[in-house]
Amino acid sequence: MKIAAIKGFNDILPEQAAVWRHIESVFHRVLGAWGYGEIRLPLLEYTELFARSIGGETDIVEKEMYTFSDRSGRSLTLRPEGTASMVRAWVQHTLGAPAEVGKFRYVGPMFRYERPQKGRYRQFYQLGAEVFGDESFYQDAEMLIMLARFFHEVGVEGTKLHLNSLGCQACRPHYRDELQHFLADRVDRLCDDCRRRVPQNPLRALDCKQPACREVVAVAPRILDYLDAPCREHFAGVTRLLTAAGVEYEIDQFMVRGLDYYSRTTFEFLAGELGAQNAVGAGGRYDNLVAELGGRETPAIGFAVGMERLAMLVATAAGAPPTEGGVALTALGAPAIERLFPLQQELCAAGIRALLNYREKSLKSLLKKADRDGVRYVLIVGDQELEREEATLRDMSTGEQRTVLLTEVVPTMRRMIHGRQDN
Ligand code: HAM
Repeated sequence: MKIAAIKGFNDILPEQAAVWRHIESVFHRVLGAWGYGEIRLPLLEYTELFARSIGGETDIVEKEMYTFSDRSGRSLTLRPEGTASMVRAWVQHTLGAPAEVGKFRYVGPMFRYERPQKGRYRQFYQLGAEVFGDESFYQDAEMLIMLARFFHEVGVEGTKLHLNSLGCQACRPHYRDELQHFLADRVDRLCDDCRRRVPQNPLRALDCKQPACREVVAVAPRILDYLDAPCREHFAGVTRLLTAAGVEYEIDQFMVRGLDYYSRTTFEFLAGELGAQNAVGAGGRYDNLVAELGGRETPAIGFAVGMERLAMLVATAAGAPPTEGGVALTALGAPAIERLFPLQQELCAAGIRALLNYREKSLKSLLKKADRDGVRYVLIVGDQELEREEATLRDMSTGEQRTVLLTEVVPTMRRMIHGRQDN
């Protein structure tokens, strides 16, 4: 019997991996320029870390985590997101003296036991960033402007930024109470899920997709009306800077994040082309989490972009994936294969993609294969060429052909591919 991959766990094949690599390189370049240092965090953490940060009543903690006991009986969890680990690392290494700002970026797989569908997987990758120690609205605006810049540089236009503020520990409880009363009075019109949520987490009802719930919620109290003066000023600062920078946004007071740690600014970047799973990236402020996880009071903000979803948009934007270039060494017959074998090593050592057939095949099938492999050049060596220590070099993009000496192949390819003279 064949063994297949686990449901919701994907192989990223070379063509797709090339798109991912492109996205990652743009991500590292853009975030590097904005002063975010790279961090690599472990995939496994103590379960308690996620329960305490993401929130015990969230879908993620209640039913989506890959949790198991290790051999000594401790409960471990495959990380469902990166923020909790990043905060744990910040506190553990006291990265940064008091009042110092720390900016980090990360890329890696996350794991959630969700129902797989297009754009939603059980292992998925995030490109994320977190900033510690800066409470100003300039920091929120910087992150959003940078993200908009990243989407632009990676070739994705037309994502929509949805923005909201969840207030702080001082003003949100008041809103929560008001909303709870409002919903409790109309509980018979809500779906079963929302009814269950009202006592614990009434805000979750705000983004329920059921038409009846939407109707109720449409006239519910709005969070922005309940912000206290500092939260109002903060939010006004963020929107002012976004407008000045030309970053378009839409205020969305029904946006509720699936993680409990947020305060003040929250946001999602949406893309219609993605279908039901339309959030390509999301995040927000979490000014209380560092202290809740045992660190000193430290304001913080972050985001994560879903790699699979972004890659879908990049592939749509860029059309066909880029060809990889290089040269196909087309050896016609065993002696030619023998002769070209060391030449392939020299070319690869010079950083040139060089592919050689080890089995004897017809010229026609080798040329077809070279085309599929997306090489720029084909170097043909048959018995006659071999006798003269020569090869025929064909430029696949122009169809031009010329003869080169085998001893000249490496310097010639270097010049043509890297534009470098050999010394
Ligand atoms: P999140 O909204 O849970 O936030 O995930 C961020 C992004 O990860 C989503 O917008 C989506 O693109 C992608 N994503 C989430 N779940 C899946 C899935 N099952 N399959 C494919 N893609 C998925 C967070 O994770 C927060 N840690 C973001 C953050 C950082 N907040 C502050 N700092």
